[in-house]
Amino acid sequence: MKIVITGGMGFVGSSLINKLDLDMNEIFIIDNFSTNVSKTLDRCELINIDLSDKSQLHTINIGSADIMIHLAGPSSGPASAKDPDGTIDISNKITFNVLRVCEQLSIKRLLFASSMAVYGNPSKLPVDEKSICKPISYYGIAKLSSEYIIQAFCKSSNLEYSIIRLFNIYGPGQDLTRMDQGLVSIYLSMLLNDKSFVIKGKLDRVRDLIHIDDVLNSIIKVMFSNAGVNQIINVCNGSPVTIDELAKILIKYFENYSYKDIIQEEGSPDDILKIYGNNDKLSKIIGYKPIYDIETGVKDFVSWSKNQIR
Ligand SMILES: NC(=O)c1ccc[n+]([C@@H]2O[C@H](COP(=O)([O-])OP(=O)(O)OC[C@H]3O[C@@H](n4cnc5c(N)ncnc54)[C@H](O)[C@@H]3O)[C@@H](O)[C@H]2O)c1
Repeated sequence: MKIVITGGMGFVGSSLINKLDLDMNEIFIIDNFSTNVSKTLDRCELINIDLSDKSQLHTINIGSADIMIHLAGPSSGPASAKDPDGTIDISNKITFNVLRVCEQLSIKRLLFASSMAVYGNPSKLPVDEKSICKPISYYGIAKLSSEYIIQAFCKSSNLEYSIIRLFNIYGPGQDLTRMDQGLVSIYLSMLLNDKSFVIKGKLDRVRDLIHIDDVLNSIIKVMFSNAGVNQIINVCNGSPVTIDELAKILIKYFENYSYKDIIQEEGSPDDILKIYGNNDKLSKIIGYKPIYDIETGVKDFVSWSKNQIR
């Protein structure tokens, strides 16, 4: 298979490439290196362009391809809050341009990484794919608008889509120097670096935290499944975890810290209060069952992160 991965230098993209069988698949990465990228991905062709710029698309000369996995774009909630119009403008432009590239390369299947942010503050939990989408952040609005653009485009073309709504991902490979994206990774970075353990927002917030391996297994299975064609699918762990519970689990691995060291600061108004997902649809489509729960997942992430600084 010839697979094009936009945002392939990022956390999810580079982890996915490490998991794909490179003897069976030819991988093309489209990325503009806008995040702090230090990794080298051997055996992949790298196309360094800004996907929001239509005039650069003609430089993608790779003949045809089979699958497009679209991960590129603004991925930080706080950065989007600082630049709302830029986020929505760039995100929509990238989505249209990715659809143009799909046409250009005669791609048959597109998988798009949307987000749980499209749901906003749900009135009923857990959220399933039929729950009302009422994003409260510009990041969520941008994701929902990209979903609509993809669905409208695919109605009048042969392109098939799978839209996956990713919940909070954590795990090995996540950039621990990046403090504007991630949740577990931001807290872990503070503890690893002996910084103050600052939690912005309430401790009783609820999240659905999913380990990167569970995400990657889902992406790989969804992109090859017939049942996933033209579907929107939650990719989540399915279990609620409060920020308080997460903090307690993390602290267990750092003897210099105790619960009373947590400094709670005011959160952001566009931060969702309580959300977790229903993954029945994903289970039905790919037989999904998460490998990691929050205890085993955090243990794995902490052990990987401690090895990084050794
Ligand atoms: N990580 C999560 O918890 C999470 C949760 C929900 C949704 N998502 C979505 O999944 C996708 C992947 O997430 P991630 O954590 O790997 O993000 P990431 O920021 O690590 O990776 C995004 C990649 O896109 C590239 N990129 C950004 N703008 C670009 C442009 N204009 N042209 C070309 N490349 C560009 C960046 O250089 C980066 O390599 C994102 O779309 C994100 O919004 C992630």
